[in-house]
Amino acid sequence: MFGEFGTEEDLRKVADTIYSIITNHYAQLSQGDVFPSDEELIRTMTEVHSTSFPDEPSLSIDNLGDWLWQIRKRSLAVWHSRYVGHMDSGIIPELSFVDAFISALNQNLLAWELSPIATYIEKQVIKWFVGRFGLPQDTAGGTFVSGGTVANLTGLFLALYKRFPNAIREGIRNLAPTAIFATQEIHYSIVKSASILGLGTDSIVSIPTTDSGTIDLNELEKAIDESDRIPLAIIGVAGVTNSGAIDPLSEIGRIAKKEKAWFHVDAAYGGALILSEEHKNKLKGIEQANSITFDPHKWLWFPKSTAMIIVRDQADLQLLDHQASYMPVHPSNVSETGIDKKSLGKQTIQGSRRFDAFRIWYAFQRFGVTPFAQGITRTIELAQQISLYVSQDKRILQLLFEPETNIVCFKINSSIVSSLKQRERLTKLAHERLEASGKGWVSRTIIKNEPVLRMVILNLNTRLDDLKKIVDSLENFLSAEIERRQ
Ligand SMILES: Cc1ncc(COP(=O)(O)O)c(C=O)c1O
Repeated sequence: MFGEFGTEEDLRKVADTIYSIITNHYAQLSQGDVFPSDEELIRTMTEVHSTSFPDEPSLSIDNLGDWLWQIRKRSLAVWHSRYVGHMDSGIIPELSFVDAFISALNQNLLAWELSPIATYIEKQVIKWFVGRFGLPQDTAGGTFVSGGTVANLTGLFLALYKRFPNAIREGIRNLAPTAIFATQEIHYSIVKSASILGLGTDSIVSIPTTDSGTIDLNELEKAIDESDRIPLAIIGVAGVTNSGAIDPLSEIGRIAKKEKAWFHVDAAYGGALILSEEHKNKLKGIEQANSITFDPHKWLWFPKSTAMIIVRDQADLQLLDHQASYMPVHPSNVSETGIDKKSLGKQTIQGSRRFDAFRIWYAFQRFGVTPFAQGITRTIELAQQISLYVSQDKRILQLLFEPETNIVCFKINSSIVSSLKQRERLTKLAHERLEASGKGWVSRTIIKNEPVLRMVILNLNTRLDDLKKIVDSLENFLSAEIERRQ
């Protein structure tokens, strides 16, 4: 039935095995360690490294289950109730199987003729979010992209070439110097985009942040006044990677308008808030954006990759469209039967694209918006509760600032450990000890030169007790170490 690649019976057996592995996985989400031990990793790594290119098959269906379970056990358990590390988490379980369906259809969203119904579903899903973000329904649009990085690159691409359309053909070497204004806390993909676009990383003007981690508006206005470069774009971040903080989008939008600069909002993380009646006001001003980066694969429990670039004017994306002789352009894009054959794929930086939009289509049709909104509220509440727990008692760990979303940052109290070098060492050690214990996982970062332990609370099976256990473990490691060093 499948030529060289097995029989229908094989397929059923493999499907049964993978199905049972996935359902067992969901039945045991918070069992076992969060991070594999070094010994376990080395054992599996040795096995992996000892393989040569498999000219002949070596994996039988009978061994498949054991092998898959081994891979699962050696993975970072992003689904675990005590994994509060990066912006990754467990996913909506049913989407594990929806992804198998997406693969089976293997549509290519590059062109309408490769994905007739999928193209409409993608357009419709984008339209839903255009509406939610409050952009004009008659002009706005967007496309799915591989992640926040490509979405940010697309936003800055538009900022550049809308301002200098001739540069598409002529290149940028003769352009006047330009500036992109953004905080020191910007995601590095913005800096990378400036380098990819040939603007250079020096084109980013770093604006200091306030104590709560958001852009300092006075500093922004001062930097624009003092700059002799063309203000190409101003970036607002909704959900700063380090802290979850949200820039004052309305004010940034107003300044961008005054300066005739492109207003890009990096809402890769915090864009999810738009689904919550209780919290969507935090994104006030996003409706002024020229472009928005939004990653449902972060705070909405979608698998990677599920990400979008949303633009105020869909027509701007034509700047990315280049012709290919094997991809006929339908003259008006509308057929005699009234079918709109316009492709979205040619208006993206990517080439072949997966039918990522189907996950969103499925999940919202199946569950509606309520569980998403509730999940957002719950994870924010957990962030507030664990912040209170840490602030109540005199502890070695200290809250860096009140969380605005579901990201909580702790530092070592400098009245207990006054040396920055020591705080760096202890923070690293506490992180390593927690990881080695397998009992939890937080991330480690630096905010305004201060070493920080960071909780990104995403998993819907996480309870306050899990978070307290993590804090208590960190405190125990730290107090034992501080005592040992005295
Ligand atoms: C604010 C922000 N923007 C962009 C990105 C990049 O997203 P991706 O990893 O999906 O490319 C991230 C990733 O963490 C992020 O936090």
